[in-house]
Amino acid sequence: MADTHSPRRLATGDLRSQRWFAPDDLRSFGHRSRLRQMGYSADEAEGRPVIAILNSWSDLSQCHTHFPERVAEVKRGVWQAGGFPLEIPVLAVSEMFMKPTAMFYRNLLALEVEEVLRSHPVDGAVLMGGCDKTVPGLLMGAITMDLPVIFLPAGPMLAGRHRQERLGSGTDVWKYWAQRQAGCLDECVWRQLEEGIARSAGTCMTMGTASTLASLVETLGLMLPGAATIPAVHSAHARMAAACGRRIVEMVWEDLRPSRILSAAAFDNAIVADMALAGSTNAIVHLLALAGRAGVPLTLDRFDELSRTTPVIANLRPAGEYLMEDFHDAGGVPALLVRLAPLLDLSCPTISGKTLGENIAGAEVIDDRVIRPLDQPLARAGGTFVLRGNLAPDGCVIKPTAAEPRLLAHTGRAVVFDSYPDMKARIDDPASGITADDVLVLRNAGPRGAPGMPEWGMLPIPKPLLEQGVRDMVRISDARMSGTSYGTCVLHVAPEAAVGGPLAAVQTGDRIRLDVESRRLDLLVDDAEIARRLTAWQPADPRFSRGYGKLFVDEVTQANHGCDFRFLERSGPTPDPDIF
Ligand code: FES
Repeated sequence: MADTHSPRRLATGDLRSQRWFAPDDLRSFGHRSRLRQMGYSADEAEGRPVIAILNSWSDLSQCHTHFPERVAEVKRGVWQAGGFPLEIPVLAVSEMFMKPTAMFYRNLLALEVEEVLRSHPVDGAVLMGGCDKTVPGLLMGAITMDLPVIFLPAGPMLAGRHRQERLGSGTDVWKYWAQRQAGCLDECVWRQLEEGIARSAGTCMTMGTASTLASLVETLGLMLPGAATIPAVHSAHARMAAACGRRIVEMVWEDLRPSRILSAAAFDNAIVADMALAGSTNAIVHLLALAGRAGVPLTLDRFDELSRTTPVIANLRPAGEYLMEDFHDAGGVPALLVRLAPLLDLSCPTISGKTLGENIAGAEVIDDRVIRPLDQPLARAGGTFVLRGNLAPDGCVIKPTAAEPRLLAHTGRAVVFDSYPDMKARIDDPASGITADDVLVLRNAGPRGAPGMPEWGMLPIPKPLLEQGVRDMVRISDARMSGTSYGTCVLHVAPEAAVGGPLAAVQTGDRIRLDVESRRLDLLVDDAEIARRLTAWQPADPRFSRGYGKLFVDEVTQANHGCDFRFLERSGPTPDPDIF
């Protein structure tokens, strides 16, 4: 168990920033004179905790368009508490505009955050993110640096709207796109949906990756209680931003670092919350990476164990019915955790300075339709299952609540696509002969193969089948899928095909058996024949010979290890700059 009780409160001379500003030498003269150049007097800037506001904003970070205002509110809180706030922009990893995929740049953000914090005179930081990969990217770097940090989530956007219908990010896009592909939706309605699906600043308002990660970071104890679900444009969001500014200054004096909060029990709590939320499958990859940075041993097996004992009680899309505004109004994460209390370790410390149990004391569920009682769950077992078998010896995942139940035990003929372009070229071909009982396989879409493990795992249903009314099929890949997606999609197959995993041995016409109840995924081909095919397998030529792409492909780990870079995983300490 981590421990929030500091041996003592820091004094001014203990502040890390004092190494820059306090000495009577030429370097420090330079630092202080340049603060004057920026307009700060000595009593404003020196002897106070220096708070970095790491802002993952740009004109292309569509979910963070309110962040310039929030920076001002965080600064207000920092000044109020006697700190010295400084905004430092960091890579704005935009889920919607970055190719090949935002995941390709998560580790670059993590590396940047670590070095920005290391190299500057910083005592603590407010991490401003929300759009999917910004959350783990900011936290991975901050956990490694282990300075006091507090996470300020972007908050979900307003619910979407089309006529009488409330629209959910991603989830309803996929639904209506299938209708459009099937010829059931005209151009006019499609354009109206475009206008109404994303109506404000903020992150996707279904229980996609952003909402899942925000909820899990609050459960881990790195956010103020109740912060995860506040809608981005709610006035409470501005008040919460100022509260983050006030609290981080106190955290510096308390020397309350992530290493005193993140424990195996805290990660267990986050996994339980993930399962109860039927959270995004992406959360597994990111939690593995965060645990790796925190030095907490965590494997896929722990997700499997906790998924078996945790019911899904959050009735949120895509697994359920409601949207993030409803979740917030129903009590948000504190209310969810009150309901899950028998399954949690409430003694875990948090950045509030209180335990998780103290944080949620007094919280209540306002609407049982949104946060169900434990004995009236959406599903008896958790939101994400971990499968193994000869096709995924190191594991893969599926979200059963997002699948058609009839497909959860299914044997079918494999139809193999060697890459995403191959899949796009052939999937809709009426001559392909693909039937609804076939199993679609996409490979070379994993961490190294794609590279970056894009969200290609919800392979499209072939257009001829859509026209026949088919809406789900078994799909298997070494890719991820959006947290807002749905369908019988087996994801994160490890090891991936690009490193010679068994997925590389599948041939069109083979039989594949999926048995979710027994957590199995098997290629029904003789072991000797699979071994023969893998012996003959040759890796593709590397796509990158230089630059970040080469670094990524050379260093990224497999999905079951969190896709961090090998050289960034926890090992020995990195020297602090003042020894140079
Ligand atoms: Fe930013 Fe979904 S696109 S959270």
